[in-house]
Amino acid sequence: MKVLVIGGGGREHAIVEALSRSERVSKIFCAPGNAGIAALAQCVPVKDTDVDGLLNFARENAVDLTVVGPEAALSAGVADAFRAAGLRIFGHSRAATRIESSKEFAKQLMQKYGVPTAAYRSFSDYSEALEYVSRRPFPAVLKYDGLAAGKGVVIAATMDEAREALASMLLDHRFGQGRVVVEDYLEGPEFSFMCFVNGDDVYPMPLAQDHKRAFDGDLGPNTGGMGAYTGLPFITEADREFAYQEIMCKAASGMVSEGCPLCGVLYGGLMKTADGIKVIEFNARFGDPETEVVLPLLESDAFEVFDAIASGKPAEDIRWSSDVAMGVVMASKGYPGSYAKGFAIEGADDAGCTVFHMGTALSDGRLVTAGGRVIMPVCRGRSLAEARRLVYEAVGRIHCENLYYRNDIGHQAL
Ligand code: AMP
Ligand code: GLY
Repeated sequence: MKVLVIGGGGREHAIVEALSRSERVSKIFCAPGNAGIAALAQCVPVKDTDVDGLLNFARENAVDLTVVGPEAALSAGVADAFRAAGLRIFGHSRAATRIESSKEFAKQLMQKYGVPTAAYRSFSDYSEALEYVSRRPFPAVLKYDGLAAGKGVVIAATMDEAREALASMLLDHRFGQGRVVVEDYLEGPEFSFMCFVNGDDVYPMPLAQDHKRAFDGDLGPNTGGMGAYTGLPFITEADREFAYQEIMCKAASGMVSEGCPLCGVLYGGLMKTADGIKVIEFNARFGDPETEVVLPLLESDAFEVFDAIASGKPAEDIRWSSDVAMGVVMASKGYPGSYAKGFAIEGADDAGCTVFHMGTALSDGRLVTAGGRVIMPVCRGRSLAEARRLVYEAVGRIHCENLYYRNDIGHQAL
């Protein structure tokens, strides 16, 4: 079977790596891929949102199955176009992707189908939004309802901060003409629950936890994620079962009832509050960097799993290793702000573990930095302490003058 993976980050490297272990797969293409992916797949220079380019490529190369990584490709309608052309694809329709691309759609879905989440209202009018905020407890959570390059969520501690944020979103239209969702602030540890979903069929993956802040001690600016691990000691089996039944399955069947069934990954960004587990956000795709610690634990054939979801067949019993995994993101100095690129990376091939490439390139045959998040060694262990010891040993073998990383990945568990 020939498979096309769309995307070019660490998440796609992990997808490609899982597919490369399948006996059913003879050839993997990745559009656009990266320098690490190039060791396992043929990288093709087609942008992940170039729907026509991707479709033509898949047709011309007789691709049997396409797997979509990024949300941008789904929002561009790549899955709709492939299905209309009779091609098999693992990824949601544009309508189903609204569970991620529109905060208001996601909140309405949760309210309608009884999925636990923070109380909210949504507004297009500045004065009405401000009036609502003044009646709710602080801090207030303000979320722009649309694409905002990760800057659309403001946690306002005071009325002044709320006024400023709402003015920038609803009066100055900093991100565009979207509405703003105002929701109550929740507290507790966050974790990520990814499931393979095909309509009403929901297949859970191991739970993972991301680390959003740039620096040790969960300090500094929000990032795309600085590290992840599986095996969360603070989530009980009862918590997991609740999250599976009352959140993931209910959301999936709600999407069926709404006429936009899911076909791919549903990612629940969840929080364990004193009042039970609640949804912070849904994503319509694999998480990054969570995928890099979860998919290495997949023992079933990855092609069979993706193919079953894409073709609407029940997936066979999906098996996972009982090991845990931990990964540390090594990012360019300055990230998530501005950073320079093109610094040589030494030792990535001899780190002694799987090293996923997030933003790398080859320059004159040398591996160099080419993004904000650059490279992520991932190690498995029987325990988190073992996985952590191994992964930080691997980090120590990778040298690059312009990279930094967190030293405390897993601190909530260890
Ligand atoms: P989101 O883009 O919705 O995932 O929000 C980004 C981050 O803001 C989340 O990962 C949380 O850490 C935080 N956050 C979002 N919503 C809430 C909430 N209702 N209460 C507390 N923190 C929140
Ligand atoms: N790691 C968070 C995300 O993928 O959205």
